[in-house]
Amino acid sequence: MAALAKTRMSILPILKFPDPRLNEVSKPVEDFGEELKALASDMAETMIAAPGVGLAAPQVGKLLRLIVIDQSDPADENRTPSPLALVNPEIVHAEGKQVYKEGCLSVEDLQSEVTRHMTVEVEAEDLDGNLFTVTAEGHKAVVLQHEIDHLDGVLFIERISPLKRSMYVKSLRKRRNKDDKDGKAGKGGRNAR
Ligand code: NI
Repeated sequence: MAALAKTRMSILPILKFPDPRLNEVSKPVEDFGEELKALASDMAETMIAAPGVGLAAPQVGKLLRLIVIDQSDPADENRTPSPLALVNPEIVHAEGKQVYKEGCLSVEDLQSEVTRHMTVEVEAEDLDGNLFTVTAEGHKAVVLQHEIDHLDGVLFIERISPLKRSMYVKSLRKRRNKDDKDGKAGKGGRNAR
């Protein structure tokens, strides 16, 4: 166990819905020091290991406006991950519409269609504080919109139909109650006061 923990040191635990921290608005990054670079590289590693195509800092409990996305083509089976960090990202232009089946590392066992813009232009800073612009369409545009939503405390399940959302919450509650009964909730459990 100790050896495993050592080699996996920079893979961060991901918060899961309904953790209230996922609904908080993250603060702008002001300090572009080594700590920010370390966080971004841990987040990239965490995203790749998950595996996922994007990760936002609040998902690992850091309420900062920082996201990482994987720029590799999801249709390419032999792709190697190509992580990009965006600091203080902002959508400055958006156009068109697309419906895309999304999932989220913080929302277990759910994929659902969400309507998003087809193309977005995002302004952000790199890890040294230099401004840059990304123009994306299709899949990459979806990932950017999904991750930037996280910075405003918005999960994709808040963009699906209320019926689907309540069905998901119900099934999650059922599963957790069952886990509690089976004693899987750990010390203290979920019913501890
Ligand atoms: Ni997500």
